[in-house]
Amino acid sequence: MEKLRVCIAGGGSTYTPGILVGMIKKKKSFPLKKLVLYDIDAERLEKMGKYALLLMKEYYPELEVIYTADKETAFKDMDFVFCQIRTGGFKMRELDEKIPLRNGAIGQETCGAGGFAYGMRSIGDMIRLVEEIRIHSPRAWIINYTNPAAIVALALDMAFPNEKRILNICDQPISLMMAYARLLGNIKYQDMIPHYFGLNHFGWFTKIINKNNNEDLTEKIKQKILEEGFYPADKESRDPSWLVTYETVRHMLELDPTYLPNTYLQYYLLPRRTLSHLNPEYTRANEVMDGREKRVFSECERVISSGTIRVSALVEKEMNKEDAHGEMILEIAEAILHDQGRHYVMMVKNRGVIPNLPEEAIVEVVCELGKEGPKPLPVGKIGTYHKGLIEQQYAYEKLTCDAYFEGSYLKALQALTLNRTIIDMELAKKILDELIIANKDYWPVLK
Ligand code: NAD
Ligand code: G6P
Ligand code: MN
Repeated sequence: MEKLRVCIAGGGSTYTPGILVGMIKKKKSFPLKKLVLYDIDAERLEKMGKYALLLMKEYYPELEVIYTADKETAFKDMDFVFCQIRTGGFKMRELDEKIPLRNGAIGQETCGAGGFAYGMRSIGDMIRLVEEIRIHSPRAWIINYTNPAAIVALALDMAFPNEKRILNICDQPISLMMAYARLLGNIKYQDMIPHYFGLNHFGWFTKIINKNNNEDLTEKIKQKILEEGFYPADKESRDPSWLVTYETVRHMLELDPTYLPNTYLQYYLLPRRTLSHLNPEYTRANEVMDGREKRVFSECERVISSGTIRVSALVEKEMNKEDAHGEMILEIAEAILHDQGRHYVMMVKNRGVIPNLPEEAIVEVVCELGKEGPKPLPVGKIGTYHKGLIEQQYAYEKLTCDAYFEGSYLKALQALTLNRTIIDMELAKKILDELIIANKDYWPVLK
């Protein structure tokens, strides 16, 4: 089999170690000859780069590993580019969360006003990244995790309407399937056939089928959640805020048992209850900076200073656990490479998949994935309630992109007014004006 060249853009991401371990696990079915880590932050890049070199020296000695901040070196002749950048870093994420919260609205990484602010930062960097990748690798598959994925996917579709090789993905549907599998106890998530529709971070599983015997597991899963509560599959290693987030799924189901909701719906459907769990002084960004970010980079430093990966507990842990994030991106790349036709929940242009939603919306649905990219499976018409919710959220996402491309203050204000976490136009204006000041180095000027 022809060996592959892969670049990780945002190579200094806290998620890179999980992807590196995924590459090691998949070296037979997805064999690499060259791995490039690319990042704009020299310090993070060097730490992760040296860590990757020591890791691969032990587990993947035949692989050439380089790390660079030079775009041409990074993107030249790549087969796949995995993107996971965070424009503005965790410091800006903290403001995305705290500015809405101090105004009494949800402050979250990808939802509500926080997601809007992050989207307005991500769009420009992602467009420039794609342009640069295309100069050096016209046919590379670009698999993108960069958030807020719903807005990034829509903006990239608007900026590159003829692109067929950019895939926008989210690991949350797989994380949820892993959680269902642990709850049921007798099935692996890989043996589940999901039925799912919505927008990114705004969707529902309508059905979960057991691949082995066609049994419909949906009601069993709902029953278990209602009786036993809900928690992530890797609950032992999650921070407290994630446990609250999963547990709230039970309450969403108690109120409306129609479908299994994505965790992110709580910010929109239960904004008041969810707000009461959020601390405006110490948000998820603080938890990540004090937790995952410190853990990952202190581990890199430990490995680098001892000159061997053998001291790494992180690698041991990653090797032995299912990691939705690292495994998903590699499985997706593998499904394309081998034309596997496996099913994944992914973001694609609607084009009639859900006939009573706009053709051009980027929906998140189950796709068959092979060498031509994702082929969405038809969902059919959806009911009034879900259609109403999605149309409102899609209008918010579209107006956000329009505000970016047109530099329109009014469209930004309309976008935030439509967002269910805000609703009130005066409140939207107050939050928008504070976000504009905080993001002056990142956003286009809004007039
Ligand atoms: P992080 O800040 O640790 O990592 C992001 C890296 O990107 C940093 O090293 C930063 O220096 C780098 N970067 C920023 N701008 C860049 C640019 N223009 N070009 C190249 N590199 C750049 O953040 P993280 O928590 O590890 O998350 C990484 C990204 O993955 C975020 O966008 C996050 O929201 C996203 N994510 C998405 C999903 C999903 O389901 N789609 C899941 C997890 C994480
Ligand atoms: C899930 C979501 C991602 C999001 C991440 C946040 O994986 O699917 O889109 O970025 O959670 O995790 P964090 O630990 O950074 O809050
Ligand atoms: Mn996601």
